[in-house]
Amino acid sequence: MAPCASCFLLVVMFSASCKAITSSDQMCTEKEANKTYNCENLGLTEVPDTLPNTTEFLEFGFNFLPTVENTTFSRLIDLIFLDLTRCQINWVHEDTFQNHHQLNTIVLTGNPLIFMAETSLNGPKLLKHLFLTQTGISNLGFIPMHNLENLESLHLGSNYISSIKFPENFPIQNLKVLDFQNNVIHYLSSEDMNTLKQATNLSLNFNGNDIKDIEPGAFHSKIFQSLKFGGSLNLSVILKGLQNTTTKSLWLGSYEDTDDQDLTSAMFDGLCEMSVESINLQKHYISDLSSATFRCFTQLQELDLTAHHLRELPSGIKGMKALKKLVLNVNRFDELCQIHAASFPSLTDLSIKGNMKKLDFGAGCLEKLENLQKLDLSHSDIEASDCCNLQLKNLRHLQYLNLSYNEPLTLQSQAFKECPQLEGLDLAFTRLHMKGPQSPFQNLHLLQVLNLSYCHLDTSNQHLLEGLEGLRHLNLQGNHFQDGSISKTSLLQTLSSLEILILSSCDLLSIDKQAFQSLGKMNHVDLSYNSLTGNSIDALSHLRGIYLNMAANNIHIIPSPLLLTLSQQSTINLSHNPLDCTCLNIHFITWYKENLQKFEGSEETVCANPPTLRGVKLSDVKLYCGITAVGIFFLVVFLFLVTVLLIFFIKFLLRWKYQHI
Ligand SMILES: *[C@@H]1O[C@H](CO)[C@@H](O)[C@H](O)[C@H]1NC(C)=O
Ligand SMILES: *[C@@H]1O[C@H](CO)[C@@H](O)[C@H](O)[C@H]1NC(C)=O
Ligand SMILES: *[C@@H]1O[C@H](CO)[C@@H](O)[C@H](O)[C@H]1NC(C)=O
Ligand SMILES: *[C@@H]1O[C@H](CO)[C@@H](O)[C@H](O)[C@H]1NC(C)=O
Ligand SMILES: *[C@@H]1O[C@H](CO)[C@@H](O)[C@H](O)[C@H]1NC(C)=O
Ligand SMILES: *[C@@H]1O[C@H](CO)[C@@H](O)[C@H](O)[C@H]1NC(C)=O
Ligand SMILES: *[C@@H]1O[C@H](CO)[C@@H](O)[C@H](O)[C@H]1NC(C)=O
Ligand SMILES: *[C@@H]1O[C@H](CO)[C@@H](O)[C@H](O)[C@H]1NC(C)=O
Ligand SMILES: *[C@@H]1O[C@H](CO)[C@@H](O)[C@H](O)[C@H]1NC(C)=O
Repeated sequence: MAPCASCFLLVVMFSASCKAITSSDQMCTEKEANKTYNCENLGLTEVPDTLPNTTEFLEFGFNFLPTVENTTFSRLIDLIFLDLTRCQINWVHEDTFQNHHQLNTIVLTGNPLIFMAETSLNGPKLLKHLFLTQTGISNLGFIPMHNLENLESLHLGSNYISSIKFPENFPIQNLKVLDFQNNVIHYLSSEDMNTLKQATNLSLNFNGNDIKDIEPGAFHSKIFQSLKFGGSLNLSVILKGLQNTTTKSLWLGSYEDTDDQDLTSAMFDGLCEMSVESINLQKHYISDLSSATFRCFTQLQELDLTAHHLRELPSGIKGMKALKKLVLNVNRFDELCQIHAASFPSLTDLSIKGNMKKLDFGAGCLEKLENLQKLDLSHSDIEASDCCNLQLKNLRHLQYLNLSYNEPLTLQSQAFKECPQLEGLDLAFTRLHMKGPQSPFQNLHLLQVLNLSYCHLDTSNQHLLEGLEGLRHLNLQGNHFQDGSISKTSLLQTLSSLEILILSSCDLLSIDKQAFQSLGKMNHVDLSYNSLTGNSIDALSHLRGIYLNMAANNIHIIPSPLLLTLSQQSTINLSHNPLDCTCLNIHFITWYKENLQKFEGSEETVCANPPTLRGVKLSDVKLYCGITAVGIFFLVVFLFLVTVLLIFFIKFLLRWKYQHI
């Protein structure tokens, strides 16, 4: 009986009693104390009392407020930003915002407005942004125009507006953004456009309106920041109608679902009569593409021909000396030389990503682009067996190169010798083979950002990253290391300037204590999605103030000597680890609760063991690892019983002895 009793007592004494604190607070979430709150989608019919009077930014969408009046928000006079998206608002009454002098943005998107009182927007002297998207407006006269002198952006998309004629005296002078997308505007007259006369540098959006006619002269000598006519079915109407206008950018793209006609070169004659810096023509098809198509493009600085079914750009395009940026994404080139790059000698930025066919990198296709700084060739099925000096010949000023998501590339040693100015190189998801043991990156002294994620690198080659003295940001996500371990002689040793290191999803099991010793400048280390244990934290003991992500590893217990290393760091993510919440880990858990502000993802930082505590947040666990009061009581009773038994036993023994003398 005695052994059994002691078992029971031991269990009682050392069992941890735990309690999870649950939160049933279904109210608004606080994003910044006393200032920023989100009360979306809570079925509210009024401002809850729990919101402080000092609230400045309030997201109140998806609640139920059929009428809004002067009492609705009267308490919150410090409001700066108010979002009332889809609150089923029909009526906005007089003086609703009369005391809200700071209010800068009102969002009424998605409310079926029936009435807005003339004085409903009185009060906010600084009102700058008004969103009336999807509110059923068909007439601009509906918008109360009192007090809108400072309005900078007016969003009227997805309504039933057919005329852009603003009422006389509508305060337009400070307007910078006017958004009419997806309305039913088919005709733009000079008279309508003249109501916008006072607004200079306007960004005007007519996307999705199918403009069928523009009165000649309607845009005469008007100056815009941007004009958007995307989705218009007949582009010659637009290009003709915009005569004598000046705009920085012109967006004439099409959408997947619009069934527009093919473009012809003649349509672009209108471009000669206007001043445009940047034009986007995405998702069109020019049926008679030739060098003559580009006759009126010579002033352009940016041209976007994304998804034009292009197999080749015509040779002999003349006069495109101003063009700085050319976008040729999602076309059908076979070889890079088919863009005839020499026609665009001033180009600094070229993008040919998502090519629909396997793109042959060619040799020296870009060699005339001496000023090229950015080149994006990602997602283009490029394959090269001897990369990249011939291909990138003469690109001396290239600073940024994106070759991610391509077919396998075999890199020579000093593969980027032609581009010594490279600062950013992205090779993610492109399988890399190295020709020989030397580093392909040797001469890239200025390289700051290198993305080698999922490149199937041979990480056992210690010379692989040699020469990258300036490298600050290295992404090695998804590569594998021998034995799942980073040794103290790993390829990282040469990267003394490194600040950001990503080693997530590398199947790591361990990291040598010395592995990061030469990386003294690191401030961001991502080791998430590996199988590391708590001991690998030791490799970071020389670092201070870093962001450390060890989410989704195999950390059960963090030994107490390593708490010092953790306490030196600024932000730590230990979410999704199988953490042990028994007394074996009590030092860590206590320290964790005292340093909660250091941790991110604490909602997902939960116990995995013991089974009774599985899923409980670490911050809610209460462990009693010592002898509890109940334990002491039972211990005393136990010792008492043992003593009594002992006395009886000795008595019995003595009596037995005397009887047998
Ligand atoms: C929020 O307001 C309360 C009460 O006015 C005040 O005690 C607290 O210090 C304020 N918090 C911040 C972060 O301003
Ligand atoms: C709201 O308007 C009513 C009637 O115009 C007025 O009596 C009341 O004082 C106003 N309330 C506030 C908080 O301004
Ligand atoms: C908030 O404002 C209301 C009305 O303006 C006032 O009655 C109330 O006392 C204020 N609350 C606090 C905590 O200041
Ligand atoms: C025009 O607006 C753009 C942004 O909308 C701004 O960057 C630019 O400085 C403005 N130009 C003038 C002349 O006001
Ligand atoms: C464009 O400007 C020219 C010269 O100022 C003028 O002759 C022509 O009529 C204008 N065209 C339109 C459509 O306003
Ligand atoms: C497009 O508009 C032009 C007038 O600018 C007109 O001549 C042409 O017929 C129109 N095309 C179609 C298909 O409606
Ligand atoms: C390179 O291109 C890929 C795919 O287009 C993109 O996701 C990535 O952000 C680009 N890299 C950089 C550094 O911009
Ligand atoms: C590669 O990493 C850089 C820097 O972190 C990032 O900007 C880029 O988007 C990444 N590329 C891809 C394809 O994810
Ligand atoms: C913690 O890290 C994981 C994995 O990288 C990430 O998904 C999660 O968003 C992070 N938590 C926070 C709060 O940033």
